[in-house]
Amino acid sequence: MTTSAWTDLSNRGLTPLSTLFEQEPDRLSRLTGEVAGIYFDLSKTHIDAKLVETLPGLAEERGLSAARDALFAGGIVNPTEGRPADHLAERGQGAAGAVDSAAARRERMRALVDAIEAGAFGDITGVLHIGIGGSVLGPALLVDALSGTAPRIDVSFLSNIDGQAFDRAVEVLDPATTLVIAASKTFTTAETLSNLQAAMDWLRGAGIADPQGRVIAVTAAPEAALEAGIDDTRILQFSEGVGGRYSLWSAVSVTAALALGWTAFEELLEGAAEMDRHFRYSEPGKNLALLAALADQLYVQNAGAQSRAVFAYDERLELLPSYLQQLEMESNGKSVSVTGEAVERSAPVTWGGVGTDAQHAVFQLLHQGTALIPVEFVAVAEDESSLPDHHRLLLLNAFAQGAALMRGKPSDDPHRNYAGNRPSITILLDRLDPRTLGALIAFYEHRTFANAVLMGINPFDQFGVELGKEIARKLGEGAEAADLDPSTRALMERAAI
Ligand code: F6P
Repeated sequence: MTTSAWTDLSNRGLTPLSTLFEQEPDRLSRLTGEVAGIYFDLSKTHIDAKLVETLPGLAEERGLSAARDALFAGGIVNPTEGRPADHLAERGQGAAGAVDSAAARRERMRALVDAIEAGAFGDITGVLHIGIGGSVLGPALLVDALSGTAPRIDVSFLSNIDGQAFDRAVEVLDPATTLVIAASKTFTTAETLSNLQAAMDWLRGAGIADPQGRVIAVTAAPEAALEAGIDDTRILQFSEGVGGRYSLWSAVSVTAALALGWTAFEELLEGAAEMDRHFRYSEPGKNLALLAALADQLYVQNAGAQSRAVFAYDERLELLPSYLQQLEMESNGKSVSVTGEAVERSAPVTWGGVGTDAQHAVFQLLHQGTALIPVEFVAVAEDESSLPDHHRLLLLNAFAQGAALMRGKPSDDPHRNYAGNRPSITILLDRLDPRTLGALIAFYEHRTFANAVLMGINPFDQFGVELGKEIARKLGEGAEAADLDPSTRALMERAAI
């Protein structure tokens, strides 16, 4: 589908950033905004006043209002799987039935958390959370970002199918007082089931008489968890319509609720709901997720950007880039539109790291390389560390990098020349707490959704992950069975597997 506003977005010239600031005196006020204790600054992107003026028309042409209404009403926004996207129901938006069912399931989750805290499983000092992809990245981000220096409970996350990962994960846990939480939407994922089995053996080996009794399953397929021998009373269910990468709002976060406390989990949902209202009701020119998506599309469709980088200038948000990788790449890394037509350009590669570490490792390319890579800085204004001077320096560095990318510095010596005019977005949280983190993650979800709608993509399926799993299964039966190429057969022989 090609529309006139889309063609304009793809073909318009990009005015240099420094000129935009000269030409648009109100640029800062128009391209900054605040929601739920988070300040967003998009002024160092190439969005200009004229482009923002076209946004209502572009959104209309691409069907944003209808798609967003369907998302918030619990309509079928994932047509290739015939499903709604029920993660919003977890924070109170959607079809009444889905919202009620999410609330009832959350009550059950809460009852289980209360029971664990009251000692129903004996003295519990640690959790081994087993899951992969969306069944681990969200809770790991929450626990890492919010548990501070004195966590209520020891938590280890185990995802990879690698004995090394297993050994490291259990090393810090006492089997006598550890609860195993197995999170898997499908409860068929090979890594998770193998790791669950290994955890059972680990508990049994440590003399735990009833290892199964220490397992809590979180899944959208309770029958599969029952079949794996987990008692109904220890299965927490979430909706089939909640995608894995959108599942941290559901019982998948039971580990986070145990580590951070129930109130923190509720505040997370409230922060997300605040961002939901902003995305749903703000006019296009003030809608931060939509404006960010407009910038994303400007760089992808117009300037051919193939990657975007996110740097957390706060150690507590170290896991944010990997969380966003799954959210953005699994959602929008597609080659066809929702109706099956080829799309020329879809999601760029999301990558990133932590500032200031990244400055001393990869920023050379961002400042002087040939690729256009829009950068995002995520920082926290309030310092909760023991070293306020460090925090000041950290923020100075984040802001300096954005300024340097934009401003550049001309030199007659080509090696020392900084061309500048390189875009960035800065996101500054007043403080890092469950509410702001919930709102931040919801902002990224809505931006991903808005990008998908603008590109005409279904962000809620992920068929691309299946083929590799299928071939791995066949290879398990031997290279002959998999009927594979000489290169793969030779690798099998070389590894003697
Ligand atoms: O293979 C990709 C994927 O299906 C992700 O979409 C998902 O988050 C992850 O695997 C884990 O799946 P499950 O929660 O069903 O174990």
